[in-house]
Amino acid sequence: MSIHHLIDFNDLTTEEWNGISALAADIKSNPDKYSDRCKGKILATLFYEPSTRTMLSFQSAMIRLGGEIIGFDNPGNSSVSKGENLKDTITIISSYADIITIRHPKEGAALAASLYSRCPLINAGDGGHFHPTQTLTDLFTIEHTKGTLSGHTVGLCGDLKNGRTVHSLLRALNKLGKNTFYLISTPSLSLQPRITELLRANGNEVYEVTSLEECIDKLDILYMTRIQRERFDSEEHYREQSGRYILDAKKMESAKKDMMILHPLPRVDEIKEEVDYDPRALYFKQAQNGIYVRMALILKMITSGTNDLTDIEKYREYPKVRSCPNKACITNTEKYLPFLTYRTSDGHTACKFCDSEID
Ligand code: NCD
Repeated sequence: MSIHHLIDFNDLTTEEWNGISALAADIKSNPDKYSDRCKGKILATLFYEPSTRTMLSFQSAMIRLGGEIIGFDNPGNSSVSKGENLKDTITIISSYADIITIRHPKEGAALAASLYSRCPLINAGDGGHFHPTQTLTDLFTIEHTKGTLSGHTVGLCGDLKNGRTVHSLLRALNKLGKNTFYLISTPSLSLQPRITELLRANGNEVYEVTSLEECIDKLDILYMTRIQRERFDSEEHYREQSGRYILDAKKMESAKKDMMILHPLPRVDEIKEEVDYDPRALYFKQAQNGIYVRMALILKMITSGTNDLTDIEKYREYPKVRSCPNKACITNTEKYLPFLTYRTSDGHTACKFCDSEID
């Protein structure tokens, strides 16, 4: 298997996901076997946005594989603060490192970076768009608790509009199984209709509800999320939407005895600390699983032995006809990017960087 770049979970085939999951399970049981598999290799972690788990688990994963790490967690300390564009940063770093992981506030930034990268590149979160390695963690935790990724009733609660972990997880579950989904949010923070339609088109049942109380007793899995404060246009709008969904011991009384509670973390106020002591609370275990899946992913990608992968040559003559209407899209800040589009299944044109429909 050779995974070129990982921008979207759905870049992986089902076979590739199964390979990562099996390798992660073996790493978890036999960590010593893997302790020098990346000896002499370098991982660069380029974090243009705050992170605790994702960045540190990537770094820990590489160190546990015997490799080394370089990078920044504050672009203010890099040449980005002098005005360097993403293309130049990636062109250079990809000749210093063997594999890159990048987090960026703009949607489509990881795809943009991958066009200029000479080594494999992993999306560690691009704005409110995707977060494929959190999905690896989520799926691994579900599979190892429930035994399967299909046939469950799954509730996703909170900021479904801006939560990139939700977008990646739903698309992955849609690819790997058939489930019933309860989408629990305020109307302002509901999931993009294009994802809801995709789920329904593939035979999943989807219910959109506004309270936890009306569905918690039906759920096999509850995926709680934080309201994504940094994606709001004003603090006032954020405050209107925050504090609405709080999981506490009282609500857990109505839940199934084996309902899994997941959360990508960080938590703000959406899960009361008292719930941490409930055996159904699996979010800390979920975060720990992040190490094994990231070790497996690094191994699978780095051993593909690729070098000089840069894709931009393919797009050199690409006409730059217009820009994306989505202000959060990377094409609006990194102006040199080719404006790549694709045709959606219902005949619309969409931006390849952020998936917004253009017409
Ligand atoms: C998530 C993220 O960054 O999208 N955190 C993470 O990577 N574990 C979720 C969040 O920030 O709310």
